[in-house]
Parts: sequence; C-alpha cells; structure tokens
Amino acid sequence: MTQAKHIPVMSAEILDWIAPKPGGKYLDGTLGLGGHSLAVLHRTRGRARILGIDKDPQALDQAEKILNAAGYKGCVEYAHGSFAHFRQALQETGWAKVHGAILDLGFSSWQLDDPERGFSFIHDGALDMRLDPGSGLESAAALVNRRSREQLKKIIREYGQEPMAGRIAGRIVERRQKKPIESTQELAEIIKMAYPPKMRHTARNHPATRSFQAFRIAVNSELEDLNAFLEKIPGSVQQGGRVAVISFHSLEDRIVKHWFRHHARDCTCPPEQLYCRCEHQAVLKVLTKKPLTPGQEEIRDNPRARSAKLRVAEALV
Ligand SMILES: C[S@@+](CC[C@H](N)C(=O)[O-])C[C@H]1O[C@@H](n2cnc3c(N)ncnc32)[C@H](O)[C@@H]1O
Repeated sequence: MTQAKHIPVMSAEILDWIAPKPGGKYLDGTLGLGGHSLAVLHRTRGRARILGIDKDPQALDQAEKILNAAGYKGCVEYAHGSFAHFRQALQETGWAKVHGAILDLGFSSWQLDDPERGFSFIHDGALDMRLDPGSGLESAAALVNRRSREQLKKIIREYGQEPMAGRIAGRIVERRQKKPIESTQELAEIIKMAYPPKMRHTARNHPATRSFQAFRIAVNSELEDLNAFLEKIPGSVQQGGRVAVISFHSLEDRIVKHWFRHHARDCTCPPEQLYCRCEHQAVLKVLTKKPLTPGQEEIRDNPRARSAKLRVAEALV
C-alpha cells in the first residue's frame, strides 16, 4: 500500500453547515482517512461522537490510527461496509438518530494512486477497482472479460457518458477473445485504440478516463449505494440536523439534487392535477439551492477538489 494521504475536500464548509455541537452524534458515511471526522472532533473538543463507515478495510484501519493518535480514542465507532446500510450500523451502535450526516463520495487520492488497487491507468496494476477487495464481488477484470458487448456498452455510455461506448465495447470483446484483459494499462491502451486516430491525440483527457470512471461506478455500485443511503435519511437524522453530500461527478450530483428536491416538496402530483392525491409530505428543507464549490485557494492547494459539489439539506421531522 502506498503511504496513505488525503486532504479533505471543503472541510471548512462541511463544518459550517453541519455545525457540530458537544454531545452530538454524527455519521461520517465515507470515513476515508477521517479528515472530516477529525474536524468535527476538533470543533467539539472531542465531545461529539462519530459513527464512521467505510467499504475499504484499509481506510478504516488508517482512520482509526489517525484519530487515536489525535487523542480521539473512544470518540468514534468504526463500521466496515457500505453507507447504503448505515441504518444497520446505527442500530448496532445503539443510536436511534444522528445530529448530522456527511458523505464525501468517491475515492481518496491514496486509493487511486495505489497500483495494486487497479483504479487508475496512470500506474500499471491488476484490474481490480473494488473498494472492498475481500467482498467477493465482481472485480473490474471479471466485468470486462465476462460481460456481453451490449452490457459493456451500456455501462460505458451510462456511467462514463462516453460517446465512443459502442466502439470501445467492441474493441474490448475483440481483444479478450485472444487473451483475458488483466491490467489497467492494457485496458487503457485498448480503449485508446478504439478512438478514431484524430480524436486520440486531440482529446483533453486520456481517452480511457470516462471508461475507467464507468467501470469504477459499476464495480462498486456507487449510484445504487447513494440512492439507498438517501432513502434511509428520513427518520435517521434528528429534526434540524443536516445532511451534507460532496459529489465529484454529475451522475452523483444529479441524484442528490433530485432526491433533495423531491423530498422538500409537500406535494409531488403533476402540475396539471387540481387536487393533491399523493399526500406527500416534505421531510427536509434544501439549504443550498445551487451546489457549493470549493474556492480558488482550495483548488490551487488541492487540485482534486476542483470537481467537488456540496449540497446540504436539513431534516424537518
Ligand atoms: C473521498 S474519500 C473520503 C475522504 C474522507 N472524507 C477524508 O477526509 O479522509 C471517500 C471514501 O469513501 C469510501 N466509500 C466510497 N463508497 C463507499 C460506500 N458506498 N460505502 C462506504 N464507503 C465508501 C471510500 O473507500 C473512501 O475511503
């Protein structure tokens, strides 16, 4: 494992919006190396409690070491698994509700940079991409070598928003007939060669960037997990408590935007209907009409922050 380092994104904004108080209980659904949890504990002088969840067992180990070394032993409950199942983790911790919840989606830089994890084509490594390699779930290698051409095309198009999805899926299927695709750079090269020669050299990013995003999303059920997390928010956050979500690509941000908007409405009947039949009740108030983005200074110090979008809502019931 490469040395674990990660600069938390929009940490000041998270603290302002979550406004943690001594005695409060907070959910950090993407604990990572504990950057946001550490800030919450500093702000409350160690008098808040945190439930920290991560799919990646290496992240949990590292976070525990970092938070203990900072003097917060006993302030954090650690749970291995997906934030999609946070309610179960809450129950196991004996908490009914939390006073605030944070999601800082995606991956940490140390995960992306570790060739053994197979997330990136910058360094060559085995094609894995699972946040929890011990989960027994399908790795990226299994996905690219076994899924049908149509399935690959759909994944690349929908999760990567890649216009060349059909050509790329075709090229992958063609190549794997000769031998299985096993490494990140091998896959990146196949994708690059699927691009028409002119576009290969003029593209702003490496031609494999979107496809790699697509495979990471598919392998880790990122969008399904996010939807499942949001569905469980009502009833899990105290009235007046806040939910803050930082996302890094438009597919995630769109899910958060629509979910917040839908659950902030008292009626979701179509506008042409004169009387409400849905009896839908708003369960939250959206506090960020538009997503917040990091300031220039933060982007300069941490370029990874440049695509971050933060949305915050407050529980009404
Ligand atoms: C951007 S990092 C979080 C960084 C953290 N806020 C910090 O300051 O160190 C995202 C973390 O969420 C984890 N993760 C991603 N999807 C997850 C999921 N569905 N359930 C639990 N953890 C997840 C990743 O393993 C990673 O450690």
